[in-house]
Amino acid sequence: MPKTETKKRRKKRRRYRLVIPSLEEARKNSEAQSPVKKRRKNTRFKLRNVRKEVWFVLAGIVVLLGVLLIPGAIEKSKLKKLGYNKETIAAIRRQKLAKTLIDNQYYSEYLASCIRSGTVNTDYLSLYTVIEGEKYLDDTDFLMVGRLRDKGYVEEQILNLYKNLRFVDITPLLIYDYQVLEQGYIDDCLAHPDNSRSSFVLTHNFYTPYENTYSADPNRTDMLVNKTWHLDETYEPKELTPLSVHCGASGTQLSKEAADAMEEWAAGGKAVGVSFYATSSYRSYDSQKALYDNYVFLHGQEQADRESARPGFSEHQTGLTVDVAAVGDEDKDFSETSAFIWASANCMDYGWILRYPENKEDITGYEYESWHYRYVGKDLAQAVYKSGMTYDEFWSLYLKPWSDETNRPSDTVLANSDWHNLLKSEEAPAEGEASQEGTEEAQAQ
Ligand code: DAL
Ligand code: ZN
Repeated sequence: MPKTETKKRRKKRRRYRLVIPSLEEARKNSEAQSPVKKRRKNTRFKLRNVRKEVWFVLAGIVVLLGVLLIPGAIEKSKLKKLGYNKETIAAIRRQKLAKTLIDNQYYSEYLASCIRSGTVNTDYLSLYTVIEGEKYLDDTDFLMVGRLRDKGYVEEQILNLYKNLRFVDITPLLIYDYQVLEQGYIDDCLAHPDNSRSSFVLTHNFYTPYENTYSADPNRTDMLVNKTWHLDETYEPKELTPLSVHCGASGTQLSKEAADAMEEWAAGGKAVGVSFYATSSYRSYDSQKALYDNYVFLHGQEQADRESARPGFSEHQTGLTVDVAAVGDEDKDFSETSAFIWASANCMDYGWILRYPENKEDITGYEYESWHYRYVGKDLAQAVYKSGMTYDEFWSLYLKPWSDETNRPSDTVLANSDWHNLLKSEEAPAEGEASQEGTEEAQAQ
């Protein structure tokens, strides 16, 4: 073979080896030369992984949504079942009341409306559930609940009282004995639907006078003295002051503050042509005893107890009380005199209250005494008048010391139910609600 010929073939063969690599090399080359393909393969692998993660995330979201939404949906359905509508449920949630309402199954139309208006006092939710019709709750009711608790009434009894009775029916309970079976009292009240602030009559007796007695606080002008709260045998008011001839019979005397108020009251009457004066004022324990014993002698004890206080239990011993008579009409019952009309209508402006109003014997324990007035101070006298309550009820609701301090309502409730607030109201007791018979008629004259 010629030399040039050999060189050419060798060259040819060498080129052939370069062009056709081994299969392994070809595969490697192919992979090396196809990055797109390789990338596609890697991408497919990653997506598969991402999908798994997504499923985990989705599952997590579903669980989370379940955890978040299902209880809410269950809660909503329970509230709906109780009777609450969409708007009220939104308000319930805003006020975070759902759990309490559901747990206790609390519902009433009244409760729902108070929740919607944002006026509900959450300390008394159960009370809202028994309020129906025209009735409503305010802070004075919450004060009353505290008073009832302080007297020994339990939740169930208080709800039963509020479910069946009006506020005017409940206030006397504060001075009556604790009723183990409150239903008996409720039934008696329901049998007397016409009872009001001007007349309160019951068939049965819910009070045993003189049985459970306590010492009144003689240092307070607002002290209550009745058949429960009494003064010691030795108690005598400080600064006993004789009444002048302008306003008191000979020998009559009162505590200084009350004596001044009596002078003013009588002078106020004289200024408009009305003359009356105190026929009896401070009476010592002993003089009250003599008086009471005489009543018993004349009328028997049962009747005497309707007319006269037992010694230690008479307001006359406080030095803050008078019996008055019209000048020239001493032989008449004071209620039959023109002086009575002015005196009873204006007494509160001078600090006096009519203590034993007509048709309130089942509360005060005494027959109507148009002549017996008690000095309590001007503001308090105005407030008692406006409340329409007897002083026994008023004191027991607003002024009595708490037997158990834990029964005191919150400071907010106490502030909103303070008796001074009654002074802000222009209104006198509603028609037929006045405790002081004849006063509205007299004021109009
Ligand atoms: N007459 C009244 C009740 C008294 O004796 O004090
Ligand atoms: Zn009297």
